[in-house]
Amino acid sequence: MSAVTAVIRGLGGALPERVVSNHDLSTRMDTSDEWIRRRTGISERRHSNDTESTSVLATTAAKRALASAGVASAGLLIVATSTPDKICPATAPKVAANLGLYGIAAYDIAAVCSGFIYALATASWAISSGSVDSALVIGADTFTRLLNPRDRTTSVIFGDGAGAAYLSAGTSGEPGAVLASTLHSDGTAETLIQVPRSAGAFFEMQGKEVFTQAVSAMSDSVETVLARVGWTADEVDSLIAHQANLRILSTVASVTGIPGSKAEIHLDRVGNTSAASIPLAMTNAGTKGHRIPGDKVVLTAFGGGTTWGAIAMTWPSISVVDPH
Ligand code: UT7
Repeated sequence: MSAVTAVIRGLGGALPERVVSNHDLSTRMDTSDEWIRRRTGISERRHSNDTESTSVLATTAAKRALASAGVASAGLLIVATSTPDKICPATAPKVAANLGLYGIAAYDIAAVCSGFIYALATASWAISSGSVDSALVIGADTFTRLLNPRDRTTSVIFGDGAGAAYLSAGTSGEPGAVLASTLHSDGTAETLIQVPRSAGAFFEMQGKEVFTQAVSAMSDSVETVLARVGWTADEVDSLIAHQANLRILSTVASVTGIPGSKAEIHLDRVGNTSAASIPLAMTNAGTKGHRIPGDKVVLTAFGGGTTWGAIAMTWPSISVVDPH
């Protein structure tokens, strides 16, 4: 009997209505469309309003992932978020209730920009262990609410959104199979990306140091999962890395030997959406027809904690709704 493997069978995304262009930001702070495009690759991002909370965006993305898979429920629901609706309780039970899923296991994972990789890896462990037969994994964040409106280094990068994947038990030969994962952390670097614990504190990031650590951590993780599945860098059809900065994506591709043309780029339209970044980039790849079922795909992320990791998978056989 072959081992049970988690297989992605549905994807969905959700974005707030309001588009904020580089030009819009340049009217509020000392920056320019030219600087933002050249240094980050970002053209626009979305900002949530009071009715577009993390749980609201997560629920819409999850509904679309369920519809994409043609199913109505899941045995486990994980919300990867560092901007929950409330500090207590977790956002996941609310999202499960919004979906009419009462009684299922539902919890949050706070690994900032690596949240989706953490949640997808742990959901795949739960499925392959036989503990559950299906899972909804949602990455959702609304960091723009925590940004200092005068901090040009964070305001130009971050946007809000949610993305979701539905997985169920299958085999490693099926398109969409989650084949290998690696997760890591280094709490000695916790101040690189943080919201200090004081009233009214804003999100803070030491951009340059994060840039350097992100490149080396993501490259190492990609190499680890490639070795585990026995793929060469040349064989990879798509590198779907956390969308923080175009220069980081090209550097990770060049360090790992994956051709730069294989890097999926979605940040130009949404910026850095933290835990939503990878599932939104996957959803975008699905709607644009960038991938065919069975393509060799590597996901990787780096974020606050610090945390990082990578996943090797094959591209699922699915149809996806465009969240834009
Ligand atoms: O999501 C979790 C992971 N996060 C990341 O991966 C983010 C990683 N970091 C980055 O993407 C980049 O470090 C930033 C985009 C945040 C900043 O870009 P940078 O190229 O590292 O800029 P810098 O901080 O080195 O600043 C270069 C220059 C400075 O001017 P001087 O001192 O050379 O005169 C800055 O003051 O650019 C200036 N600058 C800006 N100018 C216009 C910084 N931000 C801006 C801005 N507009 N928004």
